[in-house]
Amino acid sequence: MNRDQLLKLGGQLDGVELVEYPDQWPVKGTRAERRAERVVALWFAIAGLAGLAFVVGLIWWPWQYQAPGQSGTFLYSLYTPVLGVTLGLTVLGLGVGILLYTKKFVPQELAVQQRHDGDGDGSAEIDKKTIVAHLEDAGARSTIARRSLIKRSVGFAGGTLGLGLVALPVASFIKDPWKDSNGPDSLWHTPWQKRFPGEVVYMRRNTGKPDEVVLLRPEDLDAGGLETVFPFRESDRSDPEALTSIFLRSDAPVMLIRLRPGDAERVVKRKGQEDFNFGEYYAYTKVCSHVGCPVSLYEQQTNRLLCPCHQSQFDVLHYCKPIFGPATRALAQLPITVNDEGYLVARHDFIEAVGPAFWERKQ
Ligand code: FES
Repeated sequence: MNRDQLLKLGGQLDGVELVEYPDQWPVKGTRAERRAERVVALWFAIAGLAGLAFVVGLIWWPWQYQAPGQSGTFLYSLYTPVLGVTLGLTVLGLGVGILLYTKKFVPQELAVQQRHDGDGDGSAEIDKKTIVAHLEDAGARSTIARRSLIKRSVGFAGGTLGLGLVALPVASFIKDPWKDSNGPDSLWHTPWQKRFPGEVVYMRRNTGKPDEVVLLRPEDLDAGGLETVFPFRESDRSDPEALTSIFLRSDAPVMLIRLRPGDAERVVKRKGQEDFNFGEYYAYTKVCSHVGCPVSLYEQQTNRLLCPCHQSQFDVLHYCKPIFGPATRALAQLPITVNDEGYLVARHDFIEAVGPAFWERKQ
């Protein structure tokens, strides 16, 4: 039996009566038909171009953070909108193209079927054949086989969307995080790293004015006090951009804590970091070891630091090891001292990466 015969038989066996089954374009090649085809292809082409723009934007658009006032801020601020608009347009184009194609070219049949109960044995062979014939007929009558313009445009749109979906997870591997792990901008180091041997990295107060440099001396902090400090080096003093950008580095802020004299005597130091403090002054990264929120609440009476994101608590008297909440790693400690001028300075960078416990995983 050919497809038409199987189609008819399938309808009879199922008790389906085709009330209407019109050909969408009974006269082939009319201007209206060609116009409909071009409109469908246009939407798929839009989807394809938008998908291509998404991939290009994802990889090459300037995505690195630029603070307000810095050059490139405007382009940076467009990164997320560009990705959202292009990906949205891709999905929209594909959706509208498919809808229009269904409306214009797929036969709109009107069929009536009497309901019947199955006997639990699954579909009979003849039912399977007739349903396949039915699907083939729908495909053939939708004329997709001879519409190369639509096939090419939908292939283009689907291809670029697929490329975008592949590019999303792959893009994160384009920059190798393991490369240059000694560099100042690597994930293993912070701005507290000395740029050359002997460089002095001071502790700086954030006064809210980037060009106002206030360095800290031990007497600036009361017993039981905490202050968030940032690194400062003399070579940055006349560089407004460097003075501003240090406040934008997420790994720069450090909590400088001055313990009360009675508490200082009870401190348990971390093995290998016994000389990281200066008297009762201790410095810990502000980056929470759970998922990186800023730890900022200091409870003086219990000597605990609290991260407001998920309530992790760190015991300051025990090298800031976690004692409550989801964090499982102690906060990284910055080794500090006081230089000849009487200022608090970092002896060197942290000896471990700051942030989540991921960094303790072995490669
Ligand atoms: S980020 Fe600090 S507890 Fe989750």
